[in-house]
Amino acid sequence: MNDNKYYVTSPIYYVNDVPHIGHAYTTIICDILARSARAMGKQTYFLTGTDEHGQKIEKSAAAKDIDPQIFTDIGAKKFIDLMAKLNISNDYFIRTSQEKHKQIVANIWQKLIDSGDIYLGKYSGWYSIRDEAYFAEDELTTDGKAPTGADVVWLDEPSYFFKLSAYQDRLLALYDTRADFVKPTSRLNEVKSFVKSGLTDLSISRTSFHWGIKVPNDEAHVIYVWLDALANYISALGYTSDDTRFKKFWPADVHVVGKDILRFHAVYWPAFLMALDLPLPKTILAHGWWTIDGEKMSKSLGNVVDPIALIDEFGIDQVRYFLSREVILGNDGNYSKNNLINRLNSELANKIGNLLQRTLSFIAKNNYGKVPDVNIELAYSSELIKIAQNYAIANISLISDFKLNDVLDNIIELASKANIYIDAQAPWKLKSIDPKKMCDVLYVLLEAIRYIAIMLKPFMPSSAEAMLDQLAVPKSQRDFEHLTAQFALLSNTILPTPIPIFPRIEI
Ligand code: MSP
Repeated sequence: MNDNKYYVTSPIYYVNDVPHIGHAYTTIICDILARSARAMGKQTYFLTGTDEHGQKIEKSAAAKDIDPQIFTDIGAKKFIDLMAKLNISNDYFIRTSQEKHKQIVANIWQKLIDSGDIYLGKYSGWYSIRDEAYFAEDELTTDGKAPTGADVVWLDEPSYFFKLSAYQDRLLALYDTRADFVKPTSRLNEVKSFVKSGLTDLSISRTSFHWGIKVPNDEAHVIYVWLDALANYISALGYTSDDTRFKKFWPADVHVVGKDILRFHAVYWPAFLMALDLPLPKTILAHGWWTIDGEKMSKSLGNVVDPIALIDEFGIDQVRYFLSREVILGNDGNYSKNNLINRLNSELANKIGNLLQRTLSFIAKNNYGKVPDVNIELAYSSELIKIAQNYAIANISLISDFKLNDVLDNIIELASKANIYIDAQAPWKLKSIDPKKMCDVLYVLLEAIRYIAIMLKPFMPSSAEAMLDQLAVPKSQRDFEHLTAQFALLSNTILPTPIPIFPRIEI
């Protein structure tokens, strides 16, 4: 496997939904991982997109009396616009109604026929249109709903099946031998016990609606939307063609998904890939769900949080910071405006903003607005810079372990330590009694800010760039590899006039 590449994917979003904070969260997590991989010097490919087929979309389009393709064009545009608003750095946006994707899914179908993994039968059982998922009788709730709370309908129709049951042992062996296949580990255990309880073959075609990819040579059937959707992760790279991206980037390093769609990714998807004789993704990372002021987010409760309104009110980097900071990746989180404002004020404004403001305005007034003239080697023996360097190293492994919350913890901790350092060193006193020492102290603070900004960049790209502009760091020296003495700030560099980057939010 090529360790110097990184392929990260988000789920593809159903176009019938209005984008909400949950969609924003999944995509932002992916973006932070992608930007971090780039900052580590990895060749990175980040895929996101929209899931446009299936009965749910067909029904939603019919309810509005719109042609399904026009309906999906309108829906996809909302997600494309959302990506721009979230400052998402995706390399490609796939839409499953694209001809190229449809052709590749048809090729995949043919391969599964050729390998003997598909047979024709009849499906009789429950189906949830909202989840686009089949449920066994004993999975339904006492009031006859899907475990997700969605209504189910009884299906009785001819169907092609995928021989999922034949993969049970290989899947269990996979979970036992690859502890990082599903993260967090508690979720791996969930998947394991689902598979251990016994897999039945999976119905992978439907005949009672039309909006989807037709089964090759049997056009009465539409390919099951989850087979169509999961295939996006390889169709986007040009699987079954001579596209070099497939060779270069597959297998994925991480598929980021919500916990609700883990079964599709950790059971069905690896089984499909085994049948296609393809390598398996390294990790399926399942994140938790957001509630709003302690309640489930739902249209009927009218509490759906619109990420665009939030960004317009607080700023994109602030929203990215809150979402990645507030919860440990994998846990559920609760959104409330108060929590958001508190985090922004107590961490960004009071810690980082304050540090920036104090250091830069002091230098503007007392050191001619220039990087102090110091012996860099000596400055690097300072305790604060050593701490910064240790965090820089620790953060790289934390990111590889998806502990984004801990990365931010370290960054905030470094800012706190730098604030304590200013108070203890009191450069305003040193100015008259020991100006050389004042210069050393100010230099150490500037370097600490440089470490903070570079470590923060994947999370808050624009704000971090603005911080680095304030330090006059060359654009080509803003990645993780530049967190060394070799790329330290050059003495006497003229700094721009300081401007506040993280102002306090008044309630
Ligand atoms: N189309 C499928 C995914 C196919 S991937 C091959 C789908 N789409 S979705 O639009 O319903 O959900 C997309 C993602 O948004 C999922 O990862 C889901 O977990 C996430 N979220 C939806 N609501 C959410 C919250 N309230 N909180 C956090 N994430 C949530 O499923």
